[in-house]
Amino acid sequence: MDNTSGGSWALITGASSGFGVEFAHILARQRMRLVLAARRTGPMEELAEALRTAHHTRVVVEGIDLAAEGAAAELKRRTDAHGLSIDVLINNAGAGVHGRFLDADPQRIRRMLQLNTVTVTELTQLYAGDMVRRGHGRILLVASLLGYMATPEYAAYAASKSYVLSLGEALHEELASSGVTVSVLSPGLSSTAFTEASGHQVSATLKLMTMAPRPVAQAGIDALFKGRAGVVPGLANKLAAFSARLSPRSAQRRIMQALMA
Ligand SMILES: NC(=O)c1ccc[n+]([C@@H]2O[C@H](COP(=O)([O-])OP(=O)(O)OC[C@H]3O[C@@H](n4cnc5c(N)ncnc54)[C@H](OP(=O)(O)O)[C@@H]3O)[C@@H](O)[C@H]2O)c1
Repeated sequence: MDNTSGGSWALITGASSGFGVEFAHILARQRMRLVLAARRTGPMEELAEALRTAHHTRVVVEGIDLAAEGAAAELKRRTDAHGLSIDVLINNAGAGVHGRFLDADPQRIRRMLQLNTVTVTELTQLYAGDMVRRGHGRILLVASLLGYMATPEYAAYAASKSYVLSLGEALHEELASSGVTVSVLSPGLSSTAFTEASGHQVSATLKLMTMAPRPVAQAGIDALFKGRAGVVPGLANKLAAFSARLSPRSAQRRIMQALMA
């Protein structure tokens, strides 16, 4: 299994559900070959079979816990062992922990931080290093609209996504002359398994602001291939990100507390 017979390889983390599945459909339609990575291999094997049939593309499935220490190096070791040069990295796997900070299981918070920040950083460094040596490559980091504002009830999650947003924007500049682009996708609330997995029962008000996952993923892929620094999909989300830059932070966090409780 290698790159010799042509075609580019994309690695998508979190490809067993939600945005990851949408990224896989969009990239397979563009004739990209895919590595799908997440813990649950069942849904990824099904997706892989459907994509192979529909698009005659090659798809590799890697079952891996990306919240484990050393997971990024292990995934890189596996793609190297297959002889794959990854041209596109979609750093999408992530999780949230909703609720009062002091009530949260510390182990859940630690795993979330490892997954959302440490593994994302390590994967980016490992694959970007190869891409810079080859003189080309594209990386997408999935942050969140909550990365733009302090968010009570999602305090540690929002802080982890501020990290992703800052990392991605900084690397966009740092790697600008290397042929490697880094883009950040910052979705607002979207109808994936995310809120349920986070333990968040979404209010009726928030449900009105929810986007479908396909246009969110498409906005991310468009930003990736245009080499843009970032994108916030959806008009209401764009306005929220913009107003976060203008309104007092004390007002923002009170609004977020009321919305997220
Ligand atoms: N949906 C939203 O409202 C929203 C808004 C803003 C940002 N986001 C971000 O979007 C990204 C994708 O989330 P989603 O909305 O698509 O939610 P999702 O449907 O819950 O998908 C999350 C994906 O991440 C994977 N994942 C979770 N923990 C993992 C682990 N320890 N190791 C490997 N993979 C793991 C899951 O796979 P397994 O469970 O099989 O491992 C799944 O494929 C996340 O970074 C999330 O923070 C979501």
